[in-house]
Amino acid sequence: MPAPLPPGSLSLFSSLRAIRQRSFYREEAKKHGPIFKTTQFHHRVICVADLALAHRLLREQASAIAPCPQDFSKDVTGDFVRFMAPMNYKLYGPMFRRAFAKPVVSASTAFAARLIGEQLALMTVPQDPHKHLTDLTRQIFARILFGLEPGVPILEKFRSAYAALANKTMSQRLGTAGLAALADLRSMLRTPPTGVSAINDMAQQLDGTLNDTVIDNLLFTLRISTNDATGLLVWILEFLGRDPQWLDQLRKKEDPTLPSRIIKESLRLARSEFLYRKAAQEFEFENFRFPQGWLIRICIAECHRDPKHFTNPDTFNPDRFLGPPPSDQIYSPFGIRDHACSGPEFTALIATLVIEELQNYDIVLSGPATAQRGFRHWSHWRPSSKVALRPRS
Ligand code: HEM
Repeated sequence: MPAPLPPGSLSLFSSLRAIRQRSFYREEAKKHGPIFKTTQFHHRVICVADLALAHRLLREQASAIAPCPQDFSKDVTGDFVRFMAPMNYKLYGPMFRRAFAKPVVSASTAFAARLIGEQLALMTVPQDPHKHLTDLTRQIFARILFGLEPGVPILEKFRSAYAALANKTMSQRLGTAGLAALADLRSMLRTPPTGVSAINDMAQQLDGTLNDTVIDNLLFTLRISTNDATGLLVWILEFLGRDPQWLDQLRKKEDPTLPSRIIKESLRLARSEFLYRKAAQEFEFENFRFPQGWLIRICIAECHRDPKHFTNPDTFNPDRFLGPPPSDQIYSPFGIRDHACSGPEFTALIATLVIEELQNYDIVLSGPATAQRGFRHWSHWRPSSKVALRPRS
Protein backbone atom coordinates (compact mmCIF):
# COMPACT_ATOMS: atom_id res chain seq x y z
CA MET A 1 0.00 0.00 0.00
CA PRO A 2 1.45 3.40 -0.92
CA ALA A 3 1.93 5.87 1.94
CA PRO A 4 -0.85 8.46 2.37
CA LEU A 5 -0.58 12.07 1.26
CA PRO A 6 0.27 14.50 4.05
CA PRO A 7 -2.69 16.09 5.88
CA GLY A 8 -4.05 19.51 4.86
CA SER A 9 -6.67 21.03 2.59
CA LEU A 10 -6.54 21.36 -1.20
CA SER A 11 -9.52 23.71 -1.33
CA LEU A 12 -9.59 27.00 -3.25
CA PHE A 13 -10.45 28.69 0.02
CA SER A 14 -7.20 27.60 1.66
CA SER A 15 -5.29 28.60 -1.49
CA LEU A 16 -6.69 32.11 -1.11
CA ARG A 17 -5.95 32.16 2.61
CA ALA A 18 -2.34 31.26 1.79
CA ILE A 19 -2.05 34.46 -0.23
CA ARG A 20 -3.85 36.85 2.05
CA GLN A 21 -3.00 35.62 5.55
CA ARG A 22 0.61 35.92 6.61
CA SER A 23 0.11 33.36 9.39
CA PHE A 24 -1.38 30.73 7.03
CA TYR A 25 1.57 28.31 6.80
CA ARG A 26 2.32 28.64 10.50
CA GLU A 27 -1.25 27.84 11.46
CA GLU A 28 -1.37 24.87 9.09
CA ALA A 29 1.89 23.51 10.57
CA LYS A 30 0.43 23.90 14.04
CA LYS A 31 -2.71 22.04 13.02
CA HIS A 32 -1.16 19.25 10.93
CA GLY A 33 2.51 18.98 11.91
CA PRO A 34 5.57 20.08 9.92
CA ILE A 35 4.64 18.25 6.69
CA PHE A 36 1.29 19.19 5.18
CA LYS A 37 -0.30 19.75 1.81
CA THR A 38 -1.96 22.77 0.31
CA THR A 39 -2.70 24.20 -3.10
CA GLN A 40 -1.62 27.29 -5.01
CA PHE A 41 -4.45 27.54 -7.53
CA HIS A 42 -3.68 24.74 -10.02
CA HIS A 43 -0.43 23.66 -8.31
CA ARG A 44 -0.50 21.02 -5.56
CA VAL A 45 2.09 21.74 -2.89
CA ILE A 46 3.67 19.82 0.00
CA CYS A 47 5.03 22.13 2.68
CA VAL A 48 7.87 21.31 5.04
CA ALA A 49 7.98 23.65 8.03
CA ASP A 50 11.03 22.24 9.84
CA LEU A 51 14.55 23.04 8.66
CA ALA A 52 16.17 19.86 10.02
CA LEU A 53 13.56 17.79 8.13
CA ALA A 54 14.07 19.94 5.03
CA HIS A 55 17.82 19.32 5.09
CA ARG A 56 17.20 15.57 5.37
CA LEU A 57 14.54 15.61 2.66
CA LEU A 58 16.82 17.38 0.16
CA ARG A 59 19.70 15.04 1.05
CA GLU A 60 17.85 11.72 1.06
CA GLN A 61 15.69 12.45 -1.97
CA ALA A 62 18.26 14.42 -3.98
CA SER A 63 17.70 12.33 -7.11
CA ALA A 64 13.89 12.64 -6.94
CA ILE A 65 13.78 16.41 -6.33
CA ALA A 66 14.38 19.01 -9.02
CA PRO A 67 14.62 22.79 -9.10
CA CYS A 68 11.43 24.65 -9.78
CA PRO A 69 12.30 27.15 -12.54
CA GLN A 70 10.47 30.45 -12.80
CA ASP A 71 9.37 31.58 -16.25
CA PHE A 72 12.00 34.29 -16.61
CA SER A 73 14.70 31.58 -16.75
CA LYS A 74 13.49 30.60 -20.25
CA ASP A 75 14.85 33.94 -21.51
CA VAL A 76 18.29 33.33 -19.96
CA THR A 77 20.83 31.62 -22.22
CA GLY A 78 21.74 28.30 -20.55
CA ASP A 79 19.16 28.97 -17.79
CA PHE A 80 19.47 31.11 -14.69
CA VAL A 81 22.11 29.68 -12.34
CA ARG A 82 19.51 28.77 -9.69
CA PHE A 83 17.79 26.42 -12.12
CA MET A 84 20.71 25.23 -14.27
CA ALA A 85 21.05 21.60 -15.33
CA PRO A 86 23.65 19.86 -13.11
CA MET A 87 26.40 19.73 -15.80
CA ASN A 88 26.15 23.47 -16.47
CA TYR A 89 25.82 24.27 -12.77
CA LYS A 90 28.98 22.32 -11.98
CA LEU A 91 30.89 24.65 -14.28
CA TYR A 92 29.20 28.00 -13.64
CA GLY A 93 28.01 27.71 -10.00
CA PRO A 94 31.52 28.03 -8.47
CA MET A 95 32.54 30.71 -10.97
CA PHE A 96 29.63 32.98 -10.04
CA ARG A 97 30.30 32.33 -6.36
CA ARG A 98 33.88 33.55 -6.80
CA ALA A 99 32.77 36.58 -8.80
CA PHE A 100 30.25 37.54 -6.06
CA ALA A 101 32.69 37.14 -3.18
CA LYS A 102 34.16 39.80 -0.92
CA PRO A 103 37.23 40.87 -2.95
CA VAL A 104 34.98 41.91 -5.85
CA VAL A 105 32.11 43.29 -3.76
CA SER A 106 34.24 45.39 -1.43
CA ALA A 107 35.81 47.25 -4.39
CA SER A 108 32.47 49.12 -4.62
CA THR A 109 32.29 50.13 -0.95
CA ALA A 110 33.24 53.78 -1.40
CA PHE A 111 30.85 54.18 -4.34
CA ALA A 112 28.02 52.56 -2.34
CA ALA A 113 28.63 54.64 0.79
CA ARG A 114 28.59 57.89 -1.18
CA LEU A 115 25.40 57.01 -3.03
CA ILE A 116 23.62 55.86 0.12
CA GLY A 117 24.57 59.15 1.83
CA GLU A 118 23.18 61.17 -1.09
CA GLN A 119 20.02 59.12 -1.57
CA LEU A 120 18.87 58.73 2.04
CA ALA A 121 19.18 62.51 2.40
CA LEU A 122 16.40 62.81 -0.22
CA MET A 123 13.88 60.73 1.75
CA THR A 124 12.51 63.67 3.69
CA VAL A 125 8.80 63.40 2.84
CA PRO A 126 6.69 60.39 3.88
CA GLN A 127 6.83 57.80 1.10
CA ASP A 128 6.65 54.12 0.30
CA PRO A 129 10.42 53.59 0.49
CA HIS A 130 10.44 50.69 -1.94
CA LYS A 131 10.86 52.62 -5.18
CA HIS A 132 13.57 54.93 -3.91
CA LEU A 133 15.53 52.07 -2.34
CA THR A 134 15.13 49.94 -5.48
CA ASP A 135 16.82 52.67 -7.56
CA LEU A 136 19.57 52.98 -4.98
CA THR A 137 20.18 49.24 -4.71
CA ARG A 138 20.15 48.80 -8.48
CA GLN A 139 22.82 51.44 -8.97
CA ILE A 140 25.05 49.88 -6.32
CA PHE A 141 24.65 46.35 -7.64
CA ALA A 142 25.19 47.54 -11.24
CA ARG A 143 28.50 48.97 -10.02
CA ILE A 144 29.49 45.67 -8.36
CA LEU A 145 28.34 43.47 -11.23
CA PHE A 146 29.35 45.56 -14.26
CA GLY A 147 31.52 48.43 -13.02
CA LEU A 148 28.81 50.93 -14.04
CA GLU A 149 29.16 54.37 -12.50
CA PRO A 150 28.91 57.99 -13.65
CA GLY A 151 31.47 58.70 -16.35
CA VAL A 152 31.37 55.18 -17.82
CA PRO A 153 30.50 55.62 -21.55
CA ILE A 154 27.81 52.90 -21.76
CA LEU A 155 25.95 54.00 -18.60
CA GLU A 156 23.03 55.82 -20.22
CA LYS A 157 22.62 53.24 -23.00
CA PHE A 158 22.66 50.50 -20.37
CA ARG A 159 20.03 52.23 -18.25
CA SER A 160 17.59 52.72 -21.07
CA ALA A 161 17.93 49.14 -22.39
CA TYR A 162 17.83 47.64 -18.89
CA ALA A 163 14.48 49.35 -18.15
CA ALA A 164 12.79 46.76 -20.40
CA LEU A 165 14.04 43.97 -18.10
CA ALA A 166 13.51 45.75 -14.82
CA ASN A 167 9.80 46.35 -15.30
CA LYS A 168 8.94 42.64 -15.60
CA THR A 169 8.03 40.32 -12.74
CA MET A 170 9.76 36.97 -12.23
CA SER A 171 6.80 35.13 -13.73
CA GLN A 172 6.76 37.24 -16.91
CA ARG A 173 8.67 36.45 -20.07
CA LEU A 174 10.50 39.37 -21.65
CA GLY A 175 8.49 39.53 -24.90
CA THR A 176 9.77 40.98 -28.17
CA ALA A 177 10.85 44.38 -26.86
CA GLY A 178 12.50 42.84 -23.78
CA LEU A 179 14.42 40.29 -25.85
CA ALA A 180 15.65 43.05 -28.17
CA ALA A 181 16.82 45.02 -25.13
CA LEU A 182 18.56 41.90 -23.79
CA ALA A 183 20.40 41.52 -27.11
CA ASP A 184 21.51 45.19 -26.90
CA LEU A 185 22.71 44.74 -23.34
CA ARG A 186 24.67 41.62 -24.29
CA SER A 187 26.49 43.41 -27.07
CA MET A 188 27.36 46.46 -24.94
CA LEU A 189 28.62 44.24 -22.07
CA ARG A 190 30.82 42.07 -24.26
CA THR A 191 33.43 44.78 -23.63
CA PRO A 192 32.71 45.74 -20.02
CA PRO A 193 33.98 48.86 -18.25
CA THR A 194 37.46 48.32 -16.82
CA GLY A 195 38.12 47.88 -13.09
CA VAL A 196 37.08 45.38 -10.44
CA SER A 197 33.61 43.97 -11.11
CA ALA A 198 31.90 40.61 -11.20
CA ILE A 199 31.79 40.60 -15.00
CA ASN A 200 35.53 41.25 -15.24
CA ASP A 201 36.17 38.50 -12.69
CA MET A 202 34.09 36.11 -14.83
CA ALA A 203 35.98 37.22 -17.95
CA GLN A 204 39.24 36.47 -16.17
CA GLN A 205 38.00 33.02 -15.12
CA LEU A 206 36.99 32.32 -18.74
CA ASP A 207 40.30 33.53 -20.21
CA GLY A 208 38.72 36.66 -21.63
CA THR A 209 35.80 35.06 -23.47
CA LEU A 210 32.50 36.24 -22.01
CA ASN A 211 29.59 34.23 -23.36
CA ASP A 212 25.83 34.81 -23.38
CA THR A 213 25.24 32.44 -20.45
CA VAL A 214 27.48 34.56 -18.25
CA ILE A 215 26.18 37.94 -19.43
CA ASP A 216 22.52 36.94 -19.22
CA ASN A 217 23.00 35.47 -15.76
CA LEU A 218 24.67 38.63 -14.51
CA LEU A 219 21.86 40.76 -15.93
CA PHE A 220 19.18 38.63 -14.31
CA THR A 221 21.18 38.54 -11.08
CA LEU A 222 20.98 42.34 -11.10
CA ARG A 223 17.22 42.11 -11.42
CA ILE A 224 16.64 39.49 -8.76
CA SER A 225 19.22 40.64 -6.27
CA THR A 226 17.92 44.23 -6.41
CA ASN A 227 14.52 42.93 -5.47
CA ASP A 228 15.82 40.70 -2.65
CA ALA A 229 18.08 43.29 -1.08
CA THR A 230 15.53 46.11 -1.36
CA GLY A 231 13.02 43.85 0.35
CA LEU A 232 15.41 43.53 3.25
CA LEU A 233 16.18 47.27 3.43
CA VAL A 234 12.53 48.28 3.72
CA TRP A 235 12.11 45.86 6.61
CA ILE A 236 15.21 47.24 8.34
CA LEU A 237 13.67 50.74 8.10
CA GLU A 238 10.43 49.36 9.51
CA PHE A 239 12.03 47.53 12.46
CA LEU A 240 14.36 50.39 13.40
CA GLY A 241 11.55 52.93 12.95
CA ARG A 242 9.15 50.97 15.19
CA ASP A 243 11.77 50.36 17.86
CA PRO A 244 14.22 53.32 17.89
CA GLN A 245 16.16 51.98 20.91
CA TRP A 246 18.25 49.98 18.41
CA LEU A 247 19.28 53.16 16.59
CA ASP A 248 20.17 54.71 19.96
CA GLN A 249 22.34 51.71 20.72
CA LEU A 250 23.98 51.89 17.32
CA ARG A 251 24.83 55.55 17.89
CA LYS A 252 26.69 54.63 21.06
CA LYS A 253 29.04 52.51 18.92
CA GLU A 254 29.68 50.15 21.81
CA ASP A 255 29.21 46.91 19.93
CA PRO A 256 30.59 46.44 16.40
CA THR A 257 28.47 43.30 15.96
CA LEU A 258 25.16 45.17 16.33
CA PRO A 259 24.71 46.08 12.60
CA SER A 260 25.18 42.47 11.53
CA ARG A 261 22.85 41.28 14.29
CA ILE A 262 20.20 43.74 13.07
CA ILE A 263 20.59 42.32 9.57
CA LYS A 264 20.32 38.73 10.82
CA GLU A 265 17.24 39.51 12.87
CA SER A 266 15.56 41.36 9.99
CA LEU A 267 16.27 38.39 7.72
CA ARG A 268 14.86 36.03 10.34
CA LEU A 269 11.63 37.94 10.84
CA ALA A 270 10.88 39.21 7.40
CA ARG A 271 13.10 38.45 4.52
CA SER A 272 13.68 34.78 4.07
CA GLU A 273 10.38 33.25 3.27
CA PHE A 274 10.53 30.07 1.25
CA LEU A 275 12.36 27.75 -1.11
CA TYR A 276 10.58 25.86 -3.83
CA ARG A 277 11.46 22.55 -5.42
CA LYS A 278 9.51 20.02 -7.47
CA ALA A 279 9.07 16.25 -7.06
CA ALA A 280 10.63 15.01 -10.32
CA GLN A 281 9.36 11.51 -9.48
CA GLU A 282 7.14 10.08 -6.78
CA PHE A 283 8.82 9.18 -3.49
CA GLU A 284 8.04 8.63 0.18
CA PHE A 285 9.42 10.65 3.07
CA GLU A 286 8.46 10.48 6.74
CA ASN A 287 5.68 8.00 5.83
CA PHE A 288 4.06 10.43 3.42
CA ARG A 289 3.77 10.19 -0.35
CA PHE A 290 5.17 13.04 -2.45
CA PRO A 291 3.52 12.59 -5.88
CA GLN A 292 5.44 13.35 -9.06
CA GLY A 293 4.95 16.93 -10.28
CA TRP A 294 3.88 18.38 -6.93
CA LEU A 295 5.71 21.45 -5.67
CA ILE A 296 7.65 21.30 -2.43
CA ARG A 297 7.71 24.46 -0.35
CA ILE A 298 10.34 24.70 2.38
CA CYS A 299 8.71 27.15 4.79
CA ILE A 300 11.77 29.09 5.93
CA ALA A 301 9.84 32.01 7.47
CA GLU A 302 7.80 29.65 9.64
CA CYS A 303 10.94 27.78 10.78
CA HIS A 304 12.46 31.13 11.71
CA ARG A 305 9.52 31.88 14.01
CA ASP A 306 9.44 28.47 15.68
CA PRO A 307 9.13 29.08 19.45
CA LYS A 308 11.09 25.84 20.04
CA HIS A 309 14.16 27.59 18.70
CA PHE A 310 13.51 31.33 19.13
CA THR A 311 12.20 32.82 22.37
CA ASN A 312 9.41 35.37 21.77
CA PRO A 313 9.78 34.60 18.07
CA ASP A 314 7.67 37.52 16.81
CA THR A 315 9.71 40.17 18.64
CA PHE A 316 12.48 42.06 16.86
CA ASN A 317 15.47 41.41 19.08
CA PRO A 318 18.94 41.48 17.50
CA ASP A 319 20.39 40.44 20.87
CA ARG A 320 19.21 36.90 20.22
CA PHE A 321 22.22 36.69 17.88
CA LEU A 322 24.69 37.46 20.66
CA GLY A 323 26.83 34.37 21.22
CA PRO A 324 27.52 31.53 18.81
CA PRO A 325 25.62 31.58 15.50
CA PRO A 326 22.52 29.36 15.33
CA SER A 327 22.92 26.09 13.46
CA ASP A 328 21.71 25.91 9.86
CA GLN A 329 19.17 23.36 11.12
CA ILE A 330 17.17 26.23 12.65
CA TYR A 331 18.27 29.41 10.80
CA SER A 332 18.99 29.53 7.07
CA PRO A 333 18.02 32.84 5.49
CA PHE A 334 20.15 32.26 2.40
CA GLY A 335 18.90 28.78 1.56
CA ILE A 336 20.15 25.29 2.18
CA ARG A 337 22.48 22.86 0.41
CA ASP A 338 22.78 23.19 -3.38
CA HIS A 339 21.88 26.54 -4.83
CA ALA A 340 22.17 28.44 -1.54
CA CYS A 341 22.50 32.17 -2.10
CA SER A 342 25.74 33.51 -3.51
CA GLY A 343 24.84 37.08 -2.57
CA PRO A 344 25.47 37.38 1.20
CA GLU A 345 28.41 39.74 0.57
CA PHE A 346 26.28 42.03 -1.60
CA THR A 347 23.57 41.97 1.05
CA ALA A 348 25.96 42.64 3.92
CA LEU A 349 27.60 45.55 2.09
CA ILE A 350 24.44 47.46 1.29
CA ALA A 351 22.56 46.69 4.51
CA THR A 352 25.55 47.57 6.71
CA LEU A 353 26.11 50.89 4.93
CA VAL A 354 22.41 51.78 5.11
CA ILE A 355 22.33 50.99 8.84
CA GLU A 356 25.45 53.14 9.31
CA GLU A 357 23.86 56.08 7.47
CA LEU A 358 20.49 55.74 9.25
CA GLN A 359 22.21 56.70 12.49
CA ASN A 360 22.17 60.30 11.21
CA TYR A 361 18.36 60.29 11.08
CA ASP A 362 15.19 59.73 13.02
CA ILE A 363 12.99 57.31 11.12
CA VAL A 364 9.42 58.60 11.07
CA LEU A 365 6.84 55.96 10.13
CA SER A 366 3.24 56.68 9.29
CA GLY A 367 0.35 54.43 8.33
CA PRO A 368 -0.59 51.00 9.65
CA ALA A 369 1.95 48.61 11.19
CA THR A 370 0.81 45.86 8.85
CA ALA A 371 2.33 43.94 5.97
CA GLN A 372 1.08 43.65 2.40
CA ARG A 373 1.99 41.80 -0.75
CA GLY A 374 0.94 41.13 -4.35
CA PHE A 375 -1.80 38.62 -5.15
CA ARG A 376 0.56 35.70 -5.70
CA HIS A 377 1.74 32.83 -3.53
CA TRP A 378 5.35 33.65 -4.35
CA SER A 379 5.13 37.39 -3.65
CA HIS A 380 7.06 38.66 -0.65
CA TRP A 381 5.49 40.48 2.25
CA ARG A 382 6.52 44.07 2.79
CA PRO A 383 5.61 46.69 5.38
CA SER A 384 2.73 49.04 4.63
CA SER A 385 4.26 52.05 6.41
CA LYS A 386 5.26 55.28 4.78
CA VAL A 387 8.73 56.43 5.78
CA ALA A 388 10.36 59.84 6.20
CA LEU A 389 13.93 60.40 7.38
CA ARG A 390 14.48 63.46 9.61
CA PRO A 391 18.12 64.51 9.94
CA ARG A 392 19.30 64.69 13.55
CA SER A 393 20.88 67.94 14.52
C1 HEM B 1 17.93 39.75 1.46
C2 HEM B 1 18.77 39.31 0.58
C3 HEM B 1 18.73 37.94 -0.03
C4 HEM B 1 18.10 36.81 0.37
C5 HEM B 1 17.20 36.61 1.59
C6 HEM B 1 18.43 35.77 -0.58
C7 HEM B 1 18.00 34.47 -0.50
C8 HEM B 1 18.35 33.47 -1.38
C9 HEM B 1 17.92 32.12 -1.25
C10 HEM B 1 17.03 31.58 -0.15
C11 HEM B 1 18.46 31.43 -2.29
C12 HEM B 1 18.31 29.94 -2.56
C13 HEM B 1 17.16 29.69 -3.50
C14 HEM B 1 16.88 28.22 -3.68
O1 HEM B 1 17.58 27.36 -3.14
O2 HEM B 1 15.89 27.94 -4.38
C15 HEM B 1 19.21 32.36 -3.08
C16 HEM B 1 19.92 32.03 -4.23
C17 HEM B 1 20.65 32.93 -4.94
N1 HEM B 1 20.88 34.25 -4.63
FE1 HEM B 1 20.14 35.24 -3.05
N2 HEM B 1 19.25 36.29 -1.54
C18 HEM B 1 19.47 37.60 -1.23
C19 HEM B 1 20.25 38.49 -1.92
C20 HEM B 1 21.01 38.16 -3.02
C21 HEM B 1 21.91 39.08 -3.66
C22 HEM B 1 22.17 40.51 -3.22
C23 HEM B 1 22.46 38.40 -4.70
C24 HEM B 1 23.49 39.00 -5.64
C25 HEM B 1 24.49 38.34 -6.12
C26 HEM B 1 21.90 37.06 -4.73
C27 HEM B 1 22.20 36.07 -5.64
C28 HEM B 1 21.70 34.79 -5.59
C29 HEM B 1 22.00 33.77 -6.58
C30 HEM B 1 22.88 33.96 -7.83
C31 HEM B 1 21.36 32.60 -6.18
C32 HEM B 1 21.42 31.24 -6.86
C33 HEM B 1 22.67 30.54 -6.33
C34 HEM B 1 22.94 29.21 -7.01
O3 HEM B 1 22.02 28.59 -7.52
O4 HEM B 1 24.11 28.83 -7.00
N3 HEM B 1 21.03 36.96 -3.67
N4 HEM B 1 19.14 33.61 -2.51
